[in-house]
Amino acid sequence: VTHLIRRARPDEVDTVAAMWTEAGQWLATIGSDQWQYPARTERIGASIAAGDECWLVEDAGGLVATLTLDGHADPEFWRPADDPGAALYVHRMVVRRAAAGAGLGSALLDWAGARAERAGRAWLRLDAWRTNARLRSYYERQGFALVRVVELAHRRSGALYQRPAGVRLRRGPPLLG
Ligand SMILES: CC(C)(COP(=O)(O)OP(=O)(O)OC[C@H]1O[C@@H](n2cnc3c(N)ncnc32)[C@H](O)[C@@H]1OP(=O)(O)O)[C@@H](O)C(=O)NCCC(=O)NCCS
Repeated sequence: VTHLIRRARPDEVDTVAAMWTEAGQWLATIGSDQWQYPARTERIGASIAAGDECWLVEDAGGLVATLTLDGHADPEFWRPADDPGAALYVHRMVVRRAAAGAGLGSALLDWAGARAERAGRAWLRLDAWRTNARLRSYYERQGFALVRVVELAHRRSGALYQRPAGVRLRRGPPLLG
């Protein structure tokens, strides 16, 4: 199966939002409280409008995954001492259930690391839902190290992870640009 990765188009805000919502619905079925709020379409729109931040993966059957990759270090989580400019940050990574389990998430993280490296950044970073042990162990299996857990009452995310931008695990299918 060939996987193509491309920028999301301006008319695909709802498409990306629907993939995120669908992931939230799956998360609810496995008993997670992650992503149980409406999709933030204005943020999705802004990342698409930026031109090279919001990405979609498709195979012959259609869309299978999305992620957003940008330089936005959430100031509630990342501190000046972390050198926020030294990384690109992964947001809203989703692999649709029908395509899950084939290593696509791992391939997306390799791809994101390569982009970070090309942008001259030393790290690939993300913040994960801090109470979600399964998600956190997923990232640990993907070679991410826990930086720290930020506990803010109004935020459910805050488990901060990073991996050197140069890491390639090569566990998933190739993503063609
Ligand atoms: C994370 C994700 C992109 C990885 O996709 P993938 O490479 O195809 O890997 P899988 O979906 O098979 O996930 C790997 C394992 O982690 C588990 N997992 C993934 N995301 C999880 C989550 N948010 N909460 C709990 N478990 C999760 C899966 O159930 C699976 O467990 P298993 O091996 O016991 O079956 C995909 O699982 C996903 O879209 N998850 C929901 C959205 C999400 O949490 N994104 C990351 C936000 S920081």
